[in-house]
Amino acid sequence: MCGIIGALADRDVQRNLLSALQQMEYRGYDSAGICQLGNDGLQAVKAAGKLANLRDKLQRSSCCGHVGIGHTRWATHGEPNEINAHPHLAAGCAIVHNGIIENHAELRARLTVAGHNFHSQTDTEVIPNLLAELITSSDDLAAAWHHMLQSLEGAYALAGLIEACPARLWFARKGSPLLLGRNRDGAAFVASDALALAGLADEIMYLREGEWGYVEAGSWQIFDADGQPISASWEIMPPATANSGKDGFRHYMEKEIYEQPAVLQRILDAYLDVDTIHLPDAPWLLNEPLPQRIVIIACGTSYHAALTARYWLERYLKVSVEVDVASEYRYRNPVIGEQTLLITLSQSGETADTLEALRLFKRTTPHNRALTICNVASSSLARESDGLIELHAGPEIGVASTKAYLAQLAVLSLVSIALAHRAGAMDTPTMQQHLAQHRRTIDQISELLASAAQVNSAIPLFSHVHGALFLGRGPCYPLALEGALKLKEISYLHAEGYAAGEMKHGPIALIDSNLPVIVIAPQQYHLDKVLSNLREVQARGAKVILLTDLRQSDWPDDVCRIFAIPEGDYFTTPLLAAIPLQLLAYEVALSKGTDVDQPRNLAKSVTVE
Ligand code: G6P
Repeated sequence: MCGIIGALADRDVQRNLLSALQQMEYRGYDSAGICQLGNDGLQAVKAAGKLANLRDKLQRSSCCGHVGIGHTRWATHGEPNEINAHPHLAAGCAIVHNGIIENHAELRARLTVAGHNFHSQTDTEVIPNLLAELITSSDDLAAAWHHMLQSLEGAYALAGLIEACPARLWFARKGSPLLLGRNRDGAAFVASDALALAGLADEIMYLREGEWGYVEAGSWQIFDADGQPISASWEIMPPATANSGKDGFRHYMEKEIYEQPAVLQRILDAYLDVDTIHLPDAPWLLNEPLPQRIVIIACGTSYHAALTARYWLERYLKVSVEVDVASEYRYRNPVIGEQTLLITLSQSGETADTLEALRLFKRTTPHNRALTICNVASSSLARESDGLIELHAGPEIGVASTKAYLAQLAVLSLVSIALAHRAGAMDTPTMQQHLAQHRRTIDQISELLASAAQVNSAIPLFSHVHGALFLGRGPCYPLALEGALKLKEISYLHAEGYAAGEMKHGPIALIDSNLPVIVIAPQQYHLDKVLSNLREVQARGAKVILLTDLRQSDWPDDVCRIFAIPEGDYFTTPLLAAIPLQLLAYEVALSKGTDVDQPRNLAKSVTVE
């Protein structure tokens, strides 16, 4: 989703702006632009499409300056063209914006009557126009900036330049994340993503809701929503905040798939003490009385990991576990009740709907605990929750989530085991067996990756098809949803995941020889029933790919292809089954020539609802 950078230094900042925008490319975008404030005033250069187009145009421009702002745009209001790209300018003011201004139509109508001209279809363009209007009636630029913010409804992270004050970089945050950065040379930065500041800032500070301000000559003025000054609290830039490149892999997604054994190792190192589980940033989870109900809220791939965890938790804890997508939960007036534990699950920790679901939960039942399981310890979800279990997946750059999904499954399985043991529903030897199996899973995943070529023989089955169907049962039903999501995200093929037992209630009508059906059939989860479903689709001419941990001697001999996985236990089987599904999606996408790491229209971190 959109990326923001602002920079102020004692040198031309164009290189810094471009390097930060490049770091944020992974978020997904469709146009980009920068604006610098130099001797000739504000100069903006924008381009539709990839950053390379912007770089080309910049080479032919005289844009320069010691202060500047930049943006990668993921279109919400108006198509992705140069006019709608940010920054937006009006009468000496330039703005880049993430989020959505909900009262933009009303503001635009009023400003138009007052003589302002609008050029784009964006909601953002009202912001510099409003600011320009307020500046004409006030000498106090900070008061004008604050007044402008108070007139905006909706969500925003903003960076701005005002020509009347050529050495200041302005910023504000409400509803969309924004952080400040500085380095030893006195350079100052504003960014929507810590990754953007890798290599630029030594120290960072996350703005809280409603905070705003400006920086000038190394001096930061920061205010709360009411305009009261607040003091800056800087933290050292986390060392892991860097995109270390593709390391010889063809895509980040491929690299991240191959990082998964190391991710699982890091998770076990972080949370296992010989034969027990400890959660250093959420110790209360294993000390306080068990909740009577658990609600897990997430979006996208994270939602699929949550669905698998429901099977694990309910089986042992005997408490009701509700799983919902955040965008539905937050608007359906959920009945929360006391002694309910909320778990938000997220790679980024910034997904707008998940964050709002957490806020709704805390507002409605402040006594209930809220835990987040997420990959970014400094994220808004982590900061606003009562406890954090970090995923330790490392920065995930490929838009299609792979290693963060595996990390979510691994962490959720450990949490399920720890809670089951604490509830007395799992004895210590059984817990230890499951933990030992988690350790074995690291090598099993490595073996699966070493035999990645097994999926290649299935790729031709996807060359002229009208879609694909993924079937599974129990904890592997959500895996069918995830396998289908992965395929559609990066190959643009329609794919559906279905509970194998539900297949007869609709999708069976789609089955013909042009619909590959991927049947996930490990021995752990109702194997016989899944194999019956396999027969049903096969009888109707489907080309079946069977994913199973059966011994070779037990393989059915009449399916089109078999993806073999090692045998896991009740908890680790989905981690193993995920690997061939990721590889399949990746290889099918390669065969179709799509943009694997930045698939069309998708964003890595969805910071608008
Ligand atoms: C976007 C990403 C998905 C991700 C989802 C939820 O749609 O493209 O990969 O699963 O957001 O994001 P989160 O950061 O909350 O896990």
